[in-house]
Amino acid sequence: MEQVMIEKLIDTAIEQLKFSYTPYSNFKVGAALLTKSGKIYTGCNIENAAYTPTNCAERTAIFKAISEGNKEFVAIAIVGNKAGIKQGEGDYCAPCAVCRQVMAEFCDLDTFKVIIAKDTDDYLEHTLGELLPLAFTGKNLDK
Ligand code: THU
Repeated sequence: MEQVMIEKLIDTAIEQLKFSYTPYSNFKVGAALLTKSGKIYTGCNIENAAYTPTNCAERTAIFKAISEGNKEFVAIAIVGNKAGIKQGEGDYCAPCAVCRQVMAEFCDLDTFKVIIAKDTDDYLEHTLGELLPLAFTGKNLDK
């Protein structure tokens, strides 16, 4: 993937932080998901008073895409931190295990790229397979 596209995905993910709904954790996450057709789906985390209905930013983006008929993906960029932490500071926000499993439903383990960013010029890049080794997928169920 071209550098300029990686930077665009990260910048788009950063823009989503302002939509993040986090009255309980105050931890803001933004995501930008690139489809094979070149469209970018965005997502933020959306919390809930009952806690478990909370949806992560990554799954928001993936579910938006699937619900609009797009299910071929190239990469996702993720940014996240406690509210108030300056962009570029704090930790990398790696996707939670549930989001990795949802990615594995739709994304190729060897080629789908997960970009975990602190800032436009500060990020880690992994394949999904690196983040979810020995994945249980539809292949196990002959699908
Ligand atoms: N969160 C995400 O949105 N993505 C992740 O991969 C890690 C966790 C959200 C869920 C919750 O709103 C907050 O971060 C704290 O767990």
